[in-house]
Amino acid sequence: MTRSVVIGTGSCLPKRELTNADLETMVDTSDEWITTRTGIKSRRISGHGEETSKLGAAAARQALDMAGLAPAAIDLIIVCSISPDMVMPSCACLVQKELAALNAFAFDLNAACSGFVFGLDVADRYIKANPAMKILVIGAENLSARTNWQDRSTCVLFGDAAGACVLTGGEEEQHGLLATRLYSDGRLWQLLSLAGAPSLNPDLEYAADNGAYIKMAGPDVFKIAVRSMGEAVNSLLAQEGIAIDQIKLVIPHQANVRILRSLAEKLSLPFDRVYTTIEKYGNTSAASVPVALDEANRRGILQRGDLVLLCVFGGGFTWGAALLRW
Ligand code: ACO
Repeated sequence: MTRSVVIGTGSCLPKRELTNADLETMVDTSDEWITTRTGIKSRRISGHGEETSKLGAAAARQALDMAGLAPAAIDLIIVCSISPDMVMPSCACLVQKELAALNAFAFDLNAACSGFVFGLDVADRYIKANPAMKILVIGAENLSARTNWQDRSTCVLFGDAAGACVLTGGEEEQHGLLATRLYSDGRLWQLLSLAGAPSLNPDLEYAADNGAYIKMAGPDVFKIAVRSMGEAVNSLLAQEGIAIDQIKLVIPHQANVRILRSLAEKLSLPFDRVYTTIEKYGNTSAASVPVALDEANRRGILQRGDLVLLCVFGGGFTWGAALLRW
């Protein structure tokens, strides 16, 4: 049976660092509040030449290098993002241009912070249909462009980043992407939203909304995130007949360290098996899981045969989990 195998990972962080001390000079907040409520100490913020597509392309180049592939070998580019450079063209087409990956087709996928796991699932289905395909799945975000810098309840949370992986088909039964579980529930969308540009058609309901920045009911999102990710993980593990103590590393969406601690407790998982980058990068939405995956991979934490579990939650709501054997 064909399985999708990760043959390269990469990541790219903008150069500029914004610390909690910097934020203290911008809004009424404190390092103590941000650290105790979120676990975040710092985040990266993009500047000139660090558009979402540029970060995504830089992460992709690293993943291609690790895979030993030229850009022309890529058949499909999926960019998962809620902060693309433009609505049209897609960020994926701009990444394709940057890479000169001219044999690929390319499209964006929006599942908010869950995007990367949704992207893996889509890539897996192409690879199952055609195992020779080489697919780049990229999570890339410039949330700094979609943050209300006067709103202390959100502006301390987010950062910019991109992470990428290259997948192709492998024939080993127990090696690669073993399973995914994806979920959505649009009914509670207003708890976490990001409007687009105002409508030029005044009759449309969203015409009056000119706030193209993230709005969030933090405490509600917190509770639903813990419950949903916990259920997704338990249901995936039950489906695959795998116990949580067989998992080497859990790489969750990095929204808040308290969410991650609550999740670990719910899963009876020792916290040292939860990989975190939240302290240095904040919440980078669809980029958070691939950045963490690349970091763990490059540090040599993941050995061939290890079981790795990804779990995500984001606006929509969307959530899910993916199980890989490295
Ligand atoms: N500095 C100081 N005080 C603050 C700040 C700040 N930056 N932000 C809020 N406060 C204040 C509030 O005004 C409030 O004050 P009040 O009691 O006088 O009214 C108090 O702190 C408590 O506010 P809460 O919102 O109840 O704080 P909470 O402990 O819930 O933490 C947080 C807020 C960090 C946002 C938390 O709810 C959270 O992490 N939620 C989940 C975020 C998340 O998972 N997002 C999902 C993904 S995002 C995406 O998809 C793009």
